[in-house]
Amino acid sequence: MIVDKLGRRFRNLRVSLTAACNFACTYCVPDGKRLMKAQNELPGSDLLKAVTCLQQASGIDKLRITGGEPLVSTKFDEFLLGVMQLPLDDVSLTTNGQLLLQKSAVIRESGIRRLNISLDSLNPLRFKQLARGGNLNTVLAGIDAMLAFGIKLKINMVPLRNQNAGDVLPMLEYCLERGIELRFIELMRMGHMLHSNSFQAEFMSMASLLDVIGTSYEFERTDAPYDSTAARFRIPGKGVFGIIANESEPFCHSCTRLRLSSDGYLYGCLSSARRQYIGDLLQLPLYQMLPKLQGRLIDALGDKKEAFQGETTVMKLIGG
Ligand code: 5AD
Ligand code: SF4
Repeated sequence: MIVDKLGRRFRNLRVSLTAACNFACTYCVPDGKRLMKAQNELPGSDLLKAVTCLQQASGIDKLRITGGEPLVSTKFDEFLLGVMQLPLDDVSLTTNGQLLLQKSAVIRESGIRRLNISLDSLNPLRFKQLARGGNLNTVLAGIDAMLAFGIKLKINMVPLRNQNAGDVLPMLEYCLERGIELRFIELMRMGHMLHSNSFQAEFMSMASLLDVIGTSYEFERTDAPYDSTAARFRIPGKGVFGIIANESEPFCHSCTRLRLSSDGYLYGCLSSARRQYIGDLLQLPLYQMLPKLQGRLIDALGDKKEAFQGETTVMKLIGG
């Protein structure tokens, strides 16, 4: 097993099916830009093979499908059905929800049990201002369809002081009513946010979020699993919510994540642009490939930082 000096190892693999996205959220995409496919995206069969090999080489037991937006990728159906056949403890998917209705048949057929949906507002106008694409009602109808299938949902919301802070309580109420775990993600210093004033202006800390929530709900902190990135809170009799407090309570010391981009690079750390290409290994016979892959995994683990410093390019390619 590959372990670093902080005792960290890879357990969670996040695979980006495409860097393209049908939204252009203000905190993710600079004004006037759209997210596009990477130039040399690997075919779905290669990405599936990479997952199998990474599992053998490093003991990955959890997998998350991400993007960009994974549902816009033509590889989605094949990849989802394929990974659901692998001996993994847990498979989940992060999506902006816009295409959930269109993809509902394959999602149901796959047997996937958990989805994370990114949603920053229940107000149609503010939704449009933040996402710069998509349609709120279509996303909400997609959420209803997934709940009707009995799939467990989390909703990710990035609270921004001057934009959707007023949506914190309505979003919490919406989620509690439906048995959905709402997870607030503290704004991260990623991409264009890293060198702009808007990070300081828009950042809402865990403490300020809890202040807002405390005006309407009583809550208590609960235990979270060792390698969980979220602080979890229970509202007695109503449900739970979480806060991914990258700034307020950094979790780099227990990070078990490994990321694979749609064009075949391993990223050991969200806060580093360093990456290891594995696309060239996938056609080799297993006995040649596995030792090489292990070497690249050692390099990727060495890329993990001890503390999050922000990074300009990585997030939108590999979906957080
Ligand atoms: N800070 C915090 N969260 C972000 N996301 C994308 N960019 C950022 C950022 N700069 C979130 C999306 C989505 C998840 C994959 O990452 O909203 O929920
Ligand atoms: Fe697309 Fe997600 Fe970035 Fe929004 S945050 S633009 S949904 S990749």
